[in-house]
Amino acid sequence: MCRHQNHHLSALLPVEEEEEKKGKHAGGLSTRGRGERSSNGSGDEGKRGWGSRVAHTKNHRRRSFSTKIPSGLKSLVERQIPDEISRLKALKQNYGNEKVGEVTVNMIMGGMRGILGLLYETSLLDANDGIRFRGLTIPELQEKLPGKRGQEPIPEALLFLLLTKKVPTEHEVEDLRVDLMGRAEKFANECSKDKNKKNVFDVLRALPEETHPMTQLSTACLAMQNDSQFSKMYASGTMKKTEYWKYIYEDALDLIAKLPVVAAFIYKRSCVKEAARKSSDVPTVDASLDLAANFSQMMGFPSNECKELMRLYYTIHADHEGGNVSAHATHLVGSALSDPYLSFSAGLNGLAGPLHGLANQEVLKWLKEVQHALKGDYSTETVKKFVENTLKSGRVVPGYGHAVLRRTDPRYECQREFALKYMRDDELFQLVSRLYEIVPDVLKATGKVQNPWPNVDAHSGVLLQHFGIKEENFYTVMFGVSRSIGCLSQLILSRAHGYPIERPKSVTSACLEEKFK
Ligand SMILES: CC(C)(COP(=O)(O)OP(=O)(O)OC[C@H]1O[C@@H](n2cnc3c(N)ncnc32)[C@H](O)[C@@H]1OP(=O)(O)O)[C@@H](O)C(=O)NCCC(=O)NCCS
Repeated sequence: MCRHQNHHLSALLPVEEEEEKKGKHAGGLSTRGRGERSSNGSGDEGKRGWGSRVAHTKNHRRRSFSTKIPSGLKSLVERQIPDEISRLKALKQNYGNEKVGEVTVNMIMGGMRGILGLLYETSLLDANDGIRFRGLTIPELQEKLPGKRGQEPIPEALLFLLLTKKVPTEHEVEDLRVDLMGRAEKFANECSKDKNKKNVFDVLRALPEETHPMTQLSTACLAMQNDSQFSKMYASGTMKKTEYWKYIYEDALDLIAKLPVVAAFIYKRSCVKEAARKSSDVPTVDASLDLAANFSQMMGFPSNECKELMRLYYTIHADHEGGNVSAHATHLVGSALSDPYLSFSAGLNGLAGPLHGLANQEVLKWLKEVQHALKGDYSTETVKKFVENTLKSGRVVPGYGHAVLRRTDPRYECQREFALKYMRDDELFQLVSRLYEIVPDVLKATGKVQNPWPNVDAHSGVLLQHFGIKEENFYTVMFGVSRSIGCLSQLILSRAHGYPIERPKSVTSACLEEKFK
């Protein structure tokens, strides 16, 4: 499968930082010009595997920037658009009729598994390597992304990388952090001050407290749709197609800033058992923090360790290429020019399914069942029997298996590292580690599970439990908040690069039978 441009990114970084110091460009583009970056950066993404057919754009003009470049993520995205579009055009022109794979009846009947059918730029999943974000593995993100306030990257830096395929400078991360926190603060202040104007928090207050937190988050997303600049502009009939992305960008950044505030509200109102922490107030945003730290603080967990956990959580849940249910649903709905609020709400509804994001809640429930039933006897035989009984009862083992991965999920591995650092002696962590030794063999023995190894959800809840976030029905909300970074980055790029409406062809089973008669 395609590897990426990580070596190119690291090669670019010193030059760009150097140039930023010299004040040559605030937005981070080197004076070597966009074309050169494009070719040395993402243009190289597909050098191996079937991706080797990615066009090397012969006709692709390299241009240099000598004029002053305005700062900020949005202007960098804007400056990258022409080259990205001409790269895509060349790809179509040169290779538009080349085949990249075959479709079998099994693929059609097996949930489209393995069918190549989506263009998705922000990340790529390899069955054996795991996820790469613009070419960088999770450990590489942890090492290279600037703007850290502890040891883990902050979501702002990742958002910048996903949108631009460029490792940002410290200055660029800070710029974006200030932008996003400003949006969050303005949103929270407006909603808490103007008592006469109904807002999303009133909508949430009208729901029964026991409404599942994911239903509340998705509802909130829709309730905020009235704020969409894109849909207002579209309705005005004055917006050109080349301008779509600008309003999608504004909506996307607004939504990324608002979601943690809304989620913290849902947590305090609906999830926390202790009456003292229950609250119907709009959370207070601390604009000096990063998105993740502020989310943790708004939920009532201001410790540095919990903020670090939230940063790690954001990073590893942000994106997992385009075919997973939440990313694909957001992408699909967005392709109809539904705005980011409508599109991401669709993604959240998919994330709320137990085979996708809700698995993290299911894992916790199941771990508690194991604890309750085995009462500390975690011998191989006893645990094996429990797992077998789970399968016999017709359930899946939550947190294990994957549609694409064929190894232990790197997102599991880095959470394990985190646990070893901060909570080595935690009882539940030890149970999770014990299960890792036993479950894969039980799943292999079924003879049908393609990937017997743990995925991201097998570990995340245990970390949250340790730091006091005990309410497992909230876990998928945290996943959803984090996933906004990936899904909404791609949504901006999809409109910026003029992707068409998505409309695959379906067949009836009778058509297939007829074909092979
Ligand atoms: C993630 C998941 C949905 C992928 O599904 P998939 O691509 O169809 O996986 P496979 O091709 O390996 O499935 C083949 C069979 O093994 C079963 N299987 C896969 N993972 C399993 C698990 N963890 N426990 C029990 N059975 C499992 C499937 O249900 C399927 O059974 P069937 O043929 O009777 O329908 C699946 O592994 C799963 O249900 N895992 C548990 C839920 C989970 O952790 N989800 C989060 C994913 S990040």
